Amino acid sequence: MPTVVRTAAELTNLGGPVALVPTMGALHDGHVQLMKHARPLADTLVASIFVNPTQFAPGEDFEAYPRTFDADLQRCEEAGVDVVFAPTLETMYPHGPDAGVTVDAGPLGSVLEGEQRPTHFRGVLTVVAKLFGLVRPDVAVFGEKDYQQLVLIRQMAAELCLGVDVVGCPIVREADGLAMSSRNVYLGAEERQRATALSRALDAGVAAASQGIDAVVTAARSVLEAEGIAPDYLALTDPDLGAPVPGQEARLLVAARVGTPRLLDNTGLVPHMSGHSPDSANSASEGA
Ligand code: PAF
Repeated sequence: MPTVVRTAAELTNLGGPVALVPTMGALHDGHVQLMKHARPLADTLVASIFVNPTQFAPGEDFEAYPRTFDADLQRCEEAGVDVVFAPTLETMYPHGPDAGVTVDAGPLGSVLEGEQRPTHFRGVLTVVAKLFGLVRPDVAVFGEKDYQQLVLIRQMAAELCLGVDVVGCPIVREADGLAMSSRNVYLGAEERQRATALSRALDAGVAAASQGIDAVVTAARSVLEAEGIAPDYLALTDPDLGAPVPGQEARLLVAARVGTPRLLDNTGLVPHMSGHSPDSANSASEGA
């Protein structure tokens, strides 16, 4: 079993290059893939498990968020994790979660997810900066499912010169395409079925890529509409969340509630030139 560490003092003797996989627990196969990806990148592999209160707004699911520590430890062992860092609230927030220094996510923190959840990325970046400071990893691995989070963490590490190489890993999907997420456990049977509309919408967008930027978003939207799903946003961006450029790598991102749970998904694609008009980059982004 991995060594379980709860305080900063116990983290001082990590050997060699260190890789970190930050998580909030409720580990699934997607997390295991992150750990397996990280394993060969360093001598010591640390996984953190901390349900971070500051990235949940009042009324969100902080209290209800699944906590499955014993099963999580088992998964960490399977994935070759050396150390599980499961800090107390006091270790992460010595002055309490509502006090102390925070990291401002900048302009990209208030679009897409940030428009729906205005305090979310401040909480994410603050806790990730603290984890970086405590664990001192050489490399940190994050999933592409939370794509905007990955972009912002990469920006933070670069712009604040944190000396951590931030690596993204592809989304791991269920057999029917649903992106793995700790929140999938909230889906009822009928919702679970409808939830596949998100990945099907992305597939439709990819299939329409040869017809240009507007066609990608239109094709994806029509799949969601057919399931009666009104997305919080459906947007085609460049890989850094700016306006998409025809003929270049782009990202199609969607967030929607299916019943109560709010689900995210995204995919890479290259939209072609046809159907492109000078205004289409702006109109391609809905709710962003
Ligand atoms: O992606 C997550 O699980 C969380 O946002 C993270 C990066 C562990 C920060 O709490």
